[in-house]
Amino acid sequence: MTLFDRVFGGNDAVYGLTEGAIDGAIAQYGEDKAVSFPNTAYSLPCYYSVTGTKVTNLKELKEALGVVKTLMTRNKRLNDAFMSGVATALCAEFIEVLKYIDGAEPYAEPCYGHLGDAVIRELGVPLVTGDIPGVAVILGAAPSVEEGVELVKSYQAQGILVTLVGGIIDQCEEAGYKTGANVRVIPLGKDVTSVIHVVSVALRAALIFGNIAPGDAGNLMKYTFERVPAFVNAFKPLDDVIVACGAGAIALGFPVVTNETENIFRVPKSLIVQEDVSKFNATSLEARDIKIKITKIDIPVAFGSAFEGEIIRKGDMQVEFDGSRVDCCELVQTKELAEVEDHHFELIGKDFDEFEVGSKHSIAYVVEVAGKNMQPDFEPVFERKFHNYVNCIEGVMHTGQRDMIRVRISKDAFNAGFRAKDLAEVLYARIKSEFDAVVDKCQVKIYTNDEDCTKIRHELAIPAFDKRDERIGNMTDESVGVYYSCIMCQAFSPSHVCVVTPERLGLCGAVSWLDAKATNELDPAGPCQVITKEKVIDERIGEYEDVNEAVRKFSQGALQDVSLYSIMEKPMTSCGCFECICGIEPFSNGVCIANREYAGMTPLGMTFPELASMTGGGVQTPGFMGHGKQFISSKKFMKAEGGIERIVWMPKELKDQVAEKLNATAKELYGIDNFTDMIGDETIAEDPETLVAFLTEKGHPALSMDPMM
Ligand code: SF4
Ligand code: NI
Ligand code: NI
Repeated sequence: MTLFDRVFGGNDAVYGLTEGAIDGAIAQYGEDKAVSFPNTAYSLPCYYSVTGTKVTNLKELKEALGVVKTLMTRNKRLNDAFMSGVATALCAEFIEVLKYIDGAEPYAEPCYGHLGDAVIRELGVPLVTGDIPGVAVILGAAPSVEEGVELVKSYQAQGILVTLVGGIIDQCEEAGYKTGANVRVIPLGKDVTSVIHVVSVALRAALIFGNIAPGDAGNLMKYTFERVPAFVNAFKPLDDVIVACGAGAIALGFPVVTNETENIFRVPKSLIVQEDVSKFNATSLEARDIKIKITKIDIPVAFGSAFEGEIIRKGDMQVEFDGSRVDCCELVQTKELAEVEDHHFELIGKDFDEFEVGSKHSIAYVVEVAGKNMQPDFEPVFERKFHNYVNCIEGVMHTGQRDMIRVRISKDAFNAGFRAKDLAEVLYARIKSEFDAVVDKCQVKIYTNDEDCTKIRHELAIPAFDKRDERIGNMTDESVGVYYSCIMCQAFSPSHVCVVTPERLGLCGAVSWLDAKATNELDPAGPCQVITKEKVIDERIGEYEDVNEAVRKFSQGALQDVSLYSIMEKPMTSCGCFECICGIEPFSNGVCIANREYAGMTPLGMTFPELASMTGGGVQTPGFMGHGKQFISSKKFMKAEGGIERIVWMPKELKDQVAEKLNATAKELYGIDNFTDMIGDETIAEDPETLVAFLTEKGHPALSMDPMM
């Protein structure tokens, strides 16, 4: 048998099954029965991205199958094999979507099945920063449970996102190995067709971040090949169906590594036989050209981004530090070089082994840094990373920031020997490696007695935080000489550029003007570049000749001009990792804002994923804009259209989050008290009529403003 016979045979078999399944469903439900996956704006994402056609019911699904058939040519050429692989993948998607008929929930723990659009957006930033250096798809059962778990663990320790299909899922369960999106090991499903759910993620990434037009199959495959660092590990025995799926993976640019030696044909860099399962990891990384940032820290537990989302329950916790109950804080302080002894650690108070199991205490850690190029402006930038650093420790959970932190140490970490000095070691090692351009010396002091913690918090930390807030709070776009570009997201969204100003942070919410400044100074050739703002074109919408020039240059000409303060005229583009989306609501002359966490409907008749599907990809979409949460209370928030007075609706949770600052801005700009009381939310209205009635009753200012379009 040749490789062609196997691919074609596997494809034919899956096609036959799919046809049977669709016919069966039509017989059972009738051809008008709706078919869809939950939580996606991309219909059947694989079929939609490849063909540009949305399938909504069984009749259309049957027609789609006819289109799939045209891909199944049978010449013995490589392209025919690849297209048959793609056809197999599309058939798998059809079989999977049938499982979701009538809102069924076909997947039970630990399996996930279909992954919603929100998951893809969440993956965007870590994939861009290299925190997730790759995506592994492990298919079938390893030769032994130990080898299977070892392989999963090896990827996880490197921060690679692992998806599991088939027997490997049972092997992880048998070994009691923790899986779940929070630890970046995602069991998809036990049938081979469930592999489509990771393909679906890759293809939607191309639509969302890459602005690939649905149906542009050539560019789609180019995008996945160049920008989605995925690969497949398939355990023997490989049947023809798996071989056909593998051809589909290769067509998308994802190499397949297998320990199958019978009846298999090697394709350099694409289909690789590796008999030794312990070498799967190295072979795969090499084939896909994935480089791992090594963070080796001398502590008794593992450290890596895979542990970032780990949750430690009460029963599993050795000791907890809880800033909401007692005095806690974390603080970075700039010192003179002579005042700091590099790598020095001091513990003032008890160590973790002197506390009772399950007890709550105070903690304060002060990281003192010194360096010729260090500036106090960088302190909050470092501090903000502590959440990530501490969370990446296996068996340690961290939430919050500043003096509202909570740290839990698990019994497992404690039993492995994790103590206060190890916490200090992590802070030291990460600061020194990430900020070596400005930090020459670093020392860490950890306080665990109540008295000292109270003192540090109230006398040292809070005054420092207040001083900083005052400085940042007083900073305006006019008060600084330059802005910064950020192109961190271009790894995924090749033409997207954020212009970051003091009053408008990056749309991801993670890059403030100070962060961008620090990034630029730490890495002058890096993603954040200085943009001057000397040649004003239009003050009202915030358009500058120099900003335009920068945007043209950094978008490689894809973007011509951009305004900083308008949602209608030359609005800034979005990559895909926006915290919020704002869209115009014509009936009230206002705008509605939805945040990513909000799962419900908005008065615009669209959910967050639906809004997001028309906002991303690095293109300008007047009337819609992605932005960070903090931007909502900014005086520059769509200033050109009248500013925050235009906000007529946002989800309740978001409203509560931004209320204090938003109300202060409304009071200052327009003299309105408690502005958020005039803004609708989902408990008040999810449709425009009810919303307008509510706004009328409250006398919302947007109603009497000029129409926006
Ligand atoms: Fe991406 Fe913009 Fe955030 Fe930079 S500021 S990481 S480009 S969203
Ligand atoms: Ni206190
Ligand atoms: Ni982005």
